Amino acid sequence: MEKTLIILKPSTIQRALIGQVIDRFQKKGLTVAGCKMMQLDEQILREHYAHLVDRPFFPSLLRSMQATPVIVMALAGKDVVAVVRAMTGATNSRAAAPGTIRGDFGMSGQENIIHASDSVENAEIELRRFFKPEEIFDYEPLTISAIYSPDELASA
Ligand code: PPS
Repeated sequence: MEKTLIILKPSTIQRALIGQVIDRFQKKGLTVAGCKMMQLDEQILREHYAHLVDRPFFPSLLRSMQATPVIVMALAGKDVVAVVRAMTGATNSRAAAPGTIRGDFGMSGQENIIHASDSVENAEIELRRFFKPEEIFDYEPLTISAIYSPDELASA
């Protein structure tokens, strides 16, 4: 099954939204393939946000992402990268559509609840950045045949 990375950001930890955010992904039918709490250091953030280091907001982004530990998760499912991005909504939470996670829980571009990988290629890179291979699990939940048709499972 395809996998993607999400990061529950410090604002989500501070605002006690962890359960509600994870609940949405589980109710959708996605599988939690990996999950851990970690304090991000500047080195990993400079790597993760390498495309943003020259932006004026980068120092503030660094501070924000280190304000508390974060929760990193690997989610698995058919077309999971696109599904999770659609559920996440636009970067600026004020512009994110109602019904999306950012649209329902956020008011900020920086404090925008979660990070989600934006392509299959970046998901593979980002999962390797935050997880050791043995921290990601391949298993089939008992509910899988109620979530996908046999055809969908065969092509996943
Ligand atoms: S863009 O268009 O390049 O700015 O956007 P993106 O590649 O999605 O990355 C934006 C990430 O930086 C965080 N951030 C901000 N974005 C926009 N404006 C401001 N002021 C800002 N401050 C921080 C934003 O939360 C995105 O983080 P991720 O983790 O990718 O969601």
